[in-house]
Amino acid sequence: MEKTSIHGMWSSRLMFILAAAGSAVGLGNIWRFPYLTSDNGGGAFVLVYLACIVLVGLPILIAEVLIGRHGRMSPINTLRKISREEGSSRGWVAIGWMGIVAGVLILSFYSVVAGWTLHYAWLYLKHLFGGAGITDPAATFSALLSNPLELTFWHALFMLLTTVVVALGVEQGLERAVRFLMPALLLLLLLLVGYGLTTGHFGEALAFLFKPDFSRITGGVFLSAMGQAFFTLSLGMATMMTYGAYLPREGISIPRTVAAVALTDTSIALLAGMAIFPIVITFGLDPAGGGPGLIFASLPLAFEAMAFGTVYGLLFFGLLAIAAWTSSISLLEPGTAFLSEKFGIKNRKGAALLLAGLSWAVGLLSVLSLNLWSG
Ligand code: PFF
Repeated sequence: MEKTSIHGMWSSRLMFILAAAGSAVGLGNIWRFPYLTSDNGGGAFVLVYLACIVLVGLPILIAEVLIGRHGRMSPINTLRKISREEGSSRGWVAIGWMGIVAGVLILSFYSVVAGWTLHYAWLYLKHLFGGAGITDPAATFSALLSNPLELTFWHALFMLLTTVVVALGVEQGLERAVRFLMPALLLLLLLLVGYGLTTGHFGEALAFLFKPDFSRITGGVFLSAMGQAFFTLSLGMATMMTYGAYLPREGISIPRTVAAVALTDTSIALLAGMAIFPIVITFGLDPAGGGPGLIFASLPLAFEAMAFGTVYGLLFFGLLAIAAWTSSISLLEPGTAFLSEKFGIKNRKGAALLLAGLSWAVGLLSVLSLNLWSG
């Protein structure tokens, strides 16, 4: 059994937890979770989601990390190696391929949405220095979505940021990025929850999030909750398998380590709900049925009206961009690891660039689907 991976190793258990939590915590927690909760009846959805995390997500997460640590390679070669060792079907390798392809596909649209967050952070930064504020958020949002050039620019910029980190490698890139970004993310989120506490509507928000109306639990709600549990824990994309390949063996219990990752991820989703819903309620917006535009088309209304709203707006969208960044790094890493195993470890930079370019090009379809090709 290999002790180390040719791609490098996490320097400690904590670094693995930060990186895996960085992968797990992303747009899924701060953009997707609140709007799915909003659309699926609040507490009922949250309850099913939590059950899916513990009963389905956690065991799969443990399995992925375990397989990765055993194989110590990219998912495709890890599965090749293990199926050979076990004398079992070569068909298992397909799981590695599917994960890598799915990762590149997810990254293609993920980077487009992450680009929106960069655009909003930029608007608030300009506003801070005297530029116009977002007074009509619905119009600002639809203006952005209808502008393919603007969307392509932010999508490209975000993809570039992701590529730079992955190209630098496990220790110099991934580890250095999460070491700084994850604490920053937590701090910004706590600041926003702190604001939620001062609104006088925190209790209502908690009731919306945690008081289940069991009549709302339908097959559809169940499926959404299960899908969200997989998405938020980065499962099934070979990501956690790849991060597991860089996990040292000595004295590290996988179930305990992975539980810390799932706990961080779930806590951050719930904190995001506690930051967003008090604001939504305070400013007379409907917490139910917000849709994917929930945070983009409604929160700016609140930021415009509240004291220091511009700073909060900048912090919020900056936070979202950071969360998306550490996740998209993890979407690019498995394929990059595979290509550098195939074409030489020295070619990591080229591998990252090639895959990111491919994913960026596929992402143009998402960009065009919002405007010119929306039909
Ligand atoms: N877990 C990330 C989120 O919640 O935003 C998204 C994600 C990252 C999904 C990596 C899958 C993955 F492999």
